[in-house]
Amino acid sequence: MVKVGTMSTSDFAWPYLHKRLRILPRDSALRVAVELAKRVPGNIIEFGVHKGDSTRAIRRALGRADKRIFACDSFKGLPEKYENAEVGHFACKPPRIPGVQIVEGYFEDSLTPALAKRVGRIALASLDADLYSSTLCALNWLTPLLATGSLLLFDEFLGEKESEKRAFETWSAETGIRTIKVAEFLREPSGGGSIIDLRPLYQVVMDEVLPDEVSLRSRFLATPLGRTARRVRNSLQGKN
Ligand SMILES: C[S@@+](CC[C@H](N)C(=O)[O-])C[C@H]1O[C@@H](n2cnc3c(N)ncnc32)[C@H](O)[C@@H]1O
Repeated sequence: MVKVGTMSTSDFAWPYLHKRLRILPRDSALRVAVELAKRVPGNIIEFGVHKGDSTRAIRRALGRADKRIFACDSFKGLPEKYENAEVGHFACKPPRIPGVQIVEGYFEDSLTPALAKRVGRIALASLDADLYSSTLCALNWLTPLLATGSLLLFDEFLGEKESEKRAFETWSAETGIRTIKVAEFLREPSGGGSIIDLRPLYQVVMDEVLPDEVSLRSRFLATPLGRTARRVRNSLQGKN
């Protein structure tokens, strides 16, 4: 929950806040994550593709960097109700995106050991499947593919019943994999809610000491975007 002085965002209505907060658009958050991932060995994978808008943003941000992109979705829509979206919401034809390998099917069926072999080590996983069960399924499958430096970006951490956050916490507790938060972007509420949501970016820390080349937090904070993120965080915490 974001703190504003002594109050949390749940005390505020979105219509009041949205004129006062500088929300980083989704594509910019993806761009930051992909930029950071360029320095991390491995490939990029997205869970929750829909028509491919976020996938295209990842593809654009990657440019000529030598990484493969995998994009996983049933394209049959949500398997469970979520916020104000019914089962089947988001169903569509799989997009065709040059340079992106589409993995079609429900995660429970499509995230196989054979796919893990094809994908290999993960530099960045972008998790946008909304549901607790889907996010946990993706995280569990990802586990053996993660190494120090791997990045995990969540799209709607606080959505309905904090589904993505709870899945991340369950996975962290069950696997014992340590992560540090390297960035957190505010996002507009989705699903008609009023609570400011979050896109947090975590980095896996398997070893006690991070090698310099993957210690990204300080690099990020030194960039103009990092300075803006720090100012937003400070102003929300009531600091100057
Ligand atoms: C919010 S949409 C993704 C939006 C997309 N990232 C974008 O920004 O345009 C969530 C997607 O997750 C997919 N999804 C959710 N749970 C899934 C599961 N268990 N297996 C496969 N796809 C799933 C849905 O089909 C839906 O397309």
